[in-house]
Amino acid sequence: MPYMTKSYGTENKDTPLSPFQAKRRDPGPSDVQIDILFCGVCHSDIHQARNEWHNTTYPCVPGHEIIGKVTKIGNKVKKFKIGDIAGVGCLVDSCRDCQSCKENLEQHCENGAIFTYNSPEKHIGGMTFGGYSQSMVVDEDFVLNVPKNLDLAAAAPLLCAGITTYSPLRRWKVGKGQKVGIVGLGGLGHMGIKFANAFGSHVVLFTTSEKKKEDAKRLGAHDVVISTNAADMTKHTGTFDFILDTVCAQHDINAYLGLLKRSGTMTLVGAPEKPLSLISFNLIMQRRHLAGSLIGGLKETQEMLDFCGKHNIVCDIEKIPIQKINEAYDRILKSDVKYRFVIDIASLK
Ligand SMILES: NC(=O)c1ccc[n+]([C@@H]2O[C@H](COP(=O)([O-])OP(=O)(O)OC[C@H]3O[C@@H](n4cnc5c(N)ncnc54)[C@H](OP(=O)(O)O)[C@@H]3O)[C@@H](O)[C@H]2O)c1
Ligand SMILES: [Zn+2]
Ligand SMILES: [Zn+2]
Repeated sequence: MPYMTKSYGTENKDTPLSPFQAKRRDPGPSDVQIDILFCGVCHSDIHQARNEWHNTTYPCVPGHEIIGKVTKIGNKVKKFKIGDIAGVGCLVDSCRDCQSCKENLEQHCENGAIFTYNSPEKHIGGMTFGGYSQSMVVDEDFVLNVPKNLDLAAAAPLLCAGITTYSPLRRWKVGKGQKVGIVGLGGLGHMGIKFANAFGSHVVLFTTSEKKKEDAKRLGAHDVVISTNAADMTKHTGTFDFILDTVCAQHDINAYLGLLKRSGTMTLVGAPEKPLSLISFNLIMQRRHLAGSLIGGLKETQEMLDFCGKHNIVCDIEKIPIQKINEAYDRILKSDVKYRFVIDIASLK
C-alpha cells in the first residue's frame, strides 16, 4: 500500500512552493525506505519547478541531493541495513539492460532513465517526487553509501553538484600541468574549483560577481577573472586546456571558446532555458571541441563520494528550514548563494 509523506512542492509554474502530501510506494523486495535528513537546492530544481525546460508535469516536488537514514528494507536488500546513512542523487531507476546501463552510464539509459523527480513512477503511477520531503523509497541499486567522516548536510550537494563537476573533469582527464577554467561560482562551480584543484590543475574561475573573488581563492582557484572585463579575458586567449561552463542563464560562450588552446575542450553542464549562439570559427580555426555532460552514473557517483571521503571534500553550504525555500530560490536567481542551500528536513513538521 502506498503511503503519504509531508513534502514541499508546486502545482504550477507561477506559484511559490508550499506544503504538499506526496505519495510513495511501500518498499518492495529490493527497495530501501529513507527518512530524509538533508536535501540540497540545485538550480535544476528551479528550472523544473518553473517549467523552464518546458517538460514539467505538475504537481512537482523538486530535490535530488538527498541524504537520509534507512528506516525499512525489502527482503532482497544486500547493501543497506536499518539505521545506515544513505544518499540519493538525480537517478532512481533505469532499464539496467541497454548498452549505456551496461557501461554504468545509467543517466543515458536508452530506454529512459528514471530521474528522482518529474519522471514516470512505474510502481504506483504518476510522477516521481524529489527530496523536499520527509521520506522516500528507492531501489537499493540507486542508493549510495556516504563516507562516515563527512558532515551529512555539507555532503548532500555532492549527489548532484559534486558528480556533475567530478564526471567531466575525470572524463577529459584534468590534472597536473593543465590550465582549467570554471565558469560561474554557484553550487556546481564551487565544486568544480574544489575538484580541479584536488586533481592538481591550475584553476581559473570566471565570474560575473566581483564580490566572490576572495571566496574563489579560498575554495581553491589560483586566479580569478571578472568575465565582463574584456581586456582581462583577452589576456588568457589560447591558453586553456579545458573549460567547464556551469552557467544557468543566457551568456556568450564564444568569449570562452577563444581562450582554449588548439584542440582544447569546453564542456557545458549549465542548462539555460534559451539556446546559446555559437560562432563556428571559434571551433574551426584551432579545431577546438564543445561538449556537454550530464550528472554521472551510479558507479562514478560512488567513486566521487569515496574520493570526497578520502580527501575530506564537502560543499560550502547555508542550511535553511524548508519554510525559507522560496527566499532561497530568489537569492539563487540573483547569484547570491554561498555556495549551496541545503534544507534541514527536520523543519518539515
Ligand atoms: N548537466 C547536468 O547534469 C547538470 C546538473 C546539475 C545542474 N545543472 C545545471 O547547471 C546550471 C548551474 O546550476 P547551479 O545549481 O550551480 O546554479 P547556481 O548555483 O545558480 O550557479 C550558477 C552561477 O552562474 C552564474 N550566472 C548566473 N547568471 C548568469 C548570467 N546571466 N551570466 C553569466 N553568469 C551567470 C553565477 O555565477 P557568478 O556569480 O560567479 O557569475 C551563478 O552563481 C543550471 O542550469 C542547472 O540546471 C546541470
Ligand atoms: Zn542538480
Ligand atoms: Zn538502460
